[in-house]
Amino acid sequence: MRSLCLLVLLLMLLDCCLCQFPRPCATSEGLRTKECCPVWEGDGSACGALSGRGFCTEVEVSDEPHGPQYPHSGIDDRERWPTAFFNRTCRCAGNYGGFNCGECRFGYWGANCAEYRESVRRNILTLSTAEQQKFISYLNLAKNTISRDYVISTGTRAQMGVNGENPMFSDISTYDLFVWMHYYVSIDAFLGGPGNVWRDIDFAHESAAFLPWHRVFLLNWENEIRKLTGDFNFTIPYWDWRNAQSCEVCTDALMGGRNALNPNLISPASVFSSWKVICTQPEEYNSREALCNSTGEGPLLRNPGNHDTNRVQRLPTSADVEFAVSLSQYETGAMDRFSNMSFRNVLEGFASPMSGMAVPGQSTMHNSLHVFMNGTMSSVQGSANDPVFLLHHAFIDSIYERWLRTHQPPRSNYPQANAPIGHNDDVYLPLQAQQIWQWLLGAGLFGAVLAVLIVSVFIVARRKMKHGQRKKRASSFGERQPLLQSSSEEGSSSYQTHL
Ligand SMILES: *[C@@H]1O[C@H](CO)[C@@H](O)[C@H](O)[C@H]1NC(C)=O
Ligand SMILES: *[C@@H]1O[C@H](CO)[C@@H](O)[C@H](O)[C@H]1NC(C)=O
Ligand SMILES: *[C@@H]1O[C@H](CO)[C@@H](O)[C@H](O)[C@H]1NC(C)=O
Ligand SMILES: *[C@@H]1O[C@H](CO)[C@@H](O)[C@H](O)[C@H]1NC(C)=O
Ligand SMILES: *[C@@H]1O[C@H](CO)[C@@H](O)[C@H](O)[C@H]1NC(C)=O
Repeated sequence: MRSLCLLVLLLMLLDCCLCQFPRPCATSEGLRTKECCPVWEGDGSACGALSGRGFCTEVEVSDEPHGPQYPHSGIDDRERWPTAFFNRTCRCAGNYGGFNCGECRFGYWGANCAEYRESVRRNILTLSTAEQQKFISYLNLAKNTISRDYVISTGTRAQMGVNGENPMFSDISTYDLFVWMHYYVSIDAFLGGPGNVWRDIDFAHESAAFLPWHRVFLLNWENEIRKLTGDFNFTIPYWDWRNAQSCEVCTDALMGGRNALNPNLISPASVFSSWKVICTQPEEYNSREALCNSTGEGPLLRNPGNHDTNRVQRLPTSADVEFAVSLSQYETGAMDRFSNMSFRNVLEGFASPMSGMAVPGQSTMHNSLHVFMNGTMSSVQGSANDPVFLLHHAFIDSIYERWLRTHQPPRSNYPQANAPIGHNDDVYLPLQAQQIWQWLLGAGLFGAVLAVLIVSVFIVARRKMKHGQRKKRASSFGERQPLLQSSSEEGSSSYQTHL
């Protein structure tokens, strides 16, 4: 079958891993001082400063204007992230990473993080049975093991008291940490009063940060699974859905077959039938002005192919992918879901992969897979509950990489200003609690903002070459093999209604 290797370029200098929120910072003290510079246990100093791993410094946030889609300011914790929570974090030196500089940046290994090693993501359908089983057991372990390093917030910063006297944080499993982060980055803004929300806001979808944000997200997710299992060779496999007629990974050996008694559920022969979803009730949280708190909300729902065929007529083809990759402009126009001839908007799935024109009311490409799954995957905020999300986004990331290698865009191709809130270059998005400096997104040619969630999370993608001063690294990509070879409106609670 298709056996394309995905080279994930962990080549990028991504700094790692702070997801939302580092446990040592989730305290009254952390909230009061707004400092998140945890001690590295290797030498007992904050940010491993004594060993030269990093230092504690002020967070700098871009002040470039954002687009008109979100007309408010000063009401949502995610604005100017992560400054509502922290204004000082660790900045790691060299190849160090992590919220206390105790880890290595993506792609680097060893005690001094000096060894560079690439990882390769592989097609799930070509893994051996033992490898497939290992992957599923890792996911299940992650679903059932409390994260050691991160917690989630269960309230807004305001709800935690002026001086942080009422910290609201909660333990969460390693898998659900990522479900929660994906939820948090896409929630509506609370405007005050039950159900009074601003829906046209999303720090990871419907604009420029969509691709880099999800890239960093997967890298962090992969990293946390590696730490949990001790298998540092682990990579998230992908599902190559080009020309698929059905959910080929929805079998009991993989992501779970269909339940014979209820087509919306997963077969009891799959471990995923016992998983409980979280963060799937946006209207309920909005009515209470509360955040999802990780309470289980019922089984995973999935009914592939039972979707509204007026919205999604077919799954993406190879020709669709070729067309998307051929588009040279990353963003166009207002840089939102109405953009025409934008690579990002076509690949995300708000525009036609045949003409490049926005197609309101339809879902193509990335969005079409979400809608096709007709269940938990079909709502933006809860979609990461379904492990199919991982396989799907690993493949989306490979197409992004292919586009970067094809076009080798200058950094200026990524918007510096006027993108919807959270999507300009050099902003941190809710993913990480630590700054990610010098991210190399993509072929080293493209810097972007990613957001990771931590308290943020910042996600920043910084390219090594800023404003013209190039440094080496950036180059190596162009010569590599491509990763893949061919052998409605307001509100965004659902891929179906909105996207
Ligand atoms: C960071 O937050 C602390 C605590 O609120 C405050 O005292 C300090 O002035 C802030 N620093 C900056 C640069 O805003
Ligand atoms: C991980 O990969 C390295 C380098 O390819 C190899 O030496 C090592 O044996 C692998 N470890 C495992 C547990 O497979
Ligand atoms: C957690 O969320 C659930 C469902 O939204 C809610 O019923 C419950 O009261 C919340 N628990 C806490 C402690 O806030
Ligand atoms: C499943 O598809 C039907 C239309 O076929 C639609 O009415 C329903 O909202 C979809 N459910 C989800 C969760 O997407
Ligand atoms: C996209 O193209 C369509 C068809 O030409 C046009 O009606 C629409 O205004 C364009 N959208 C934007 C944002 O320019």
